[in-house]
Amino acid sequence: MDKPFSQACINNRGPISGILERVFANKRNILEIGSGTGQHAVWFASKMPHLSWQTSDQAQYHAGINQWIEECPSPNLLAPIPLNVLTDPWPTNAYDGIYSANTAHIMPWEAVVAMFAGVGVRLSSNGIFCLYGPIKYQGELDAQSNVQFDQRLQQQFPHQGIREFHDINRLALAAELVLLEDNTMPANNRLLVWQKI
Ligand SMILES: C[S@@+](CC[C@H](N)C(=O)[O-])C[C@H]1O[C@@H](n2cnc3c(N)ncnc32)[C@H](O)[C@@H]1O
Repeated sequence: MDKPFSQACINNRGPISGILERVFANKRNILEIGSGTGQHAVWFASKMPHLSWQTSDQAQYHAGINQWIEECPSPNLLAPIPLNVLTDPWPTNAYDGIYSANTAHIMPWEAVVAMFAGVGVRLSSNGIFCLYGPIKYQGELDAQSNVQFDQRLQQQFPHQGIREFHDINRLALAAELVLLEDNTMPANNRLLVWQKI
């Protein structure tokens, strides 16, 4: 099997890392939800050696993530655990940081609900949750490329679509997560940062 590759991961890892290095500066144990190709994990683990970075995803992604880890091994980078946020049991460890990129518009809404509920349970007090990806504000997308992306998602897979900020922040509040930052990112993405009360 060819190693999975995402050009977007190469493009966005620097700007994302710039923020994670700041908000995870005094954190130790990070859970990544939906590691995908595994490219973000190997990059962030190398940039933040003080962190233990736990990859996770649905089982069909594990072989690819493991290929990236085998090619760029690091003592602080942990092999993926199975985590479909809707159907799998969550790891019982407490994490002081959780990160997820480009997942909320891909998973069905009930999984987004389950993700925030799970984050609220697994994140320790003062822990940080970072969510990266495109976000809608009051029903609007500021970039035409995101409007087209959203339409394409909904046409191909009706359960997918770019999520509304207020809807996800409502889930965050229910999980006792307080919004700290809403960062503008390249390519019309956002990086939202919440802290567990
Ligand atoms: C577009 S990929 C993003 C991968 C990677 N985070 C990135 O930014 O390149 C979407 C990811 O969401 C994950 N995903 C979709 N539904 C999920 C669910 N119910 N639970 C956990 N992960 C899910 C997929 O398995 C996939 O890894």
